[in-house]
Amino acid sequence: MSGANAVKEDRLWQRHAAMAKLGGTPRGGVNRQALSPEDAAARNQLARWASARGFAIFTDAIGNLFVRREGSDPKAAPVMSGSHMDSQPTGGRFDGMYGVLAAFEALEALEDAGVTTKRPVMAVAWTNEEGSRFQPGAMGSAVFAGTYELDEMLAQKDWKGVVLKDALAETLKAAPAPRREGIPGFPVDSYVEAHIEQGPRLENAATTIGVVTAIQGSRRYIVTIEGEEAHAGTTPRAARKDAYAAATRLAAALYEATADTDDTLRFTIGRVEVSPGSPNTVPGKVSFTIDMRHPDDTVLVEREAAIERLLAEKTKPCTASLQKVTNVPPTNFDPAVIDLVRAKATGLGLTNMDMPSGAGHDAMHVAKLCPTGMIFVPCERGISHNEIENATPSDLAAGTRVLVEVLEALANR
Ligand code: HGY
Ligand code: MN
Ligand code: MN
Repeated sequence: MSGANAVKEDRLWQRHAAMAKLGGTPRGGVNRQALSPEDAAARNQLARWASARGFAIFTDAIGNLFVRREGSDPKAAPVMSGSHMDSQPTGGRFDGMYGVLAAFEALEALEDAGVTTKRPVMAVAWTNEEGSRFQPGAMGSAVFAGTYELDEMLAQKDWKGVVLKDALAETLKAAPAPRREGIPGFPVDSYVEAHIEQGPRLENAATTIGVVTAIQGSRRYIVTIEGEEAHAGTTPRAARKDAYAAATRLAAALYEATADTDDTLRFTIGRVEVSPGSPNTVPGKVSFTIDMRHPDDTVLVEREAAIERLLAEKTKPCTASLQKVTNVPPTNFDPAVIDLVRAKATGLGLTNMDMPSGAGHDAMHVAKLCPTGMIFVPCERGISHNEIENATPSDLAAGTRVLVEVLEALANR
């Protein structure tokens, strides 16, 4: 039996249902933020499934969680697949988790089919891909790839001031696993990540498999505007340094400056904090996040310069600063891996189309280390980062069958 035929659609679906309970929300989504008790519960669940199959499991200094199925040449660099188990605060049950469970299902299917691969095949759950609680996102994979410094990431704080190092220690205490000491990272032969598309193109094209060619560039900033707190009743407008009034002027100008005619540039202000946050005190300080993305890095460079210009222009008499949090250039995946994904999808009789990714993924960092690619499956109406995110058992299984075939080919070359 081939690995692909050993993929069990129902086992995969039931695993999603079990994981969706960990941080499950009343609207059927998940709130399983990075290094939370819910994240620890998901780690424990994966570890239980792994030990039941006799797979080795271990973690590293940034909390990435690895599951290893041995190959006939244990010294050979492993082939790896995975994604993330942390979610947005109002996230869906498939974003990230599908890639981890598809990778685990692939290991199980190879085991069930009695397939021996030359290289070890590994599944991975990367720490803090979403970058919602702790910034920057795709943190675990970026530290593994050497893009971010471990100590700098351990010192990051969430919005409430919790230090990542402490949250990580708590999580690993709640979800213990053997630890690979030292700076995260080891040789990887190749990496393939399965993920829901998080957009409508596959569904609109009635196509099952996305052969992902690239990931667009993304930059993230925090704007801080400093004004002066004052009495809401006694302070004339002319005397105010109202940080929120300045923030709204600036935001309006930024939306206008990033509205391109072909609707390609993505500009989002997702989080705003106003202090002191009292109804009758003029805000003295406002901070807000900017998430900006485009396939062409020169556009992002040019728009960043426009943001800096508008910051000075629109916020007087307040002062404003721009903190650059992430700058991930566009990623082009490995042509041989792209061709392999396409060939295996076609070989399995699955409709497929080449497409770029609008969303960021851990693969954008792993691509610096080894030949990397991604497999997309549709999600309902392309909705994601929303509790109503949905996908079908058959599409998830189809993507996993392609994944098994690709991993097997990579592990035996
Ligand atoms: O933001 C992203 O693109 C990813 O879903 N975290
Ligand atoms: Mn994701
Ligand atoms: Mn996401």
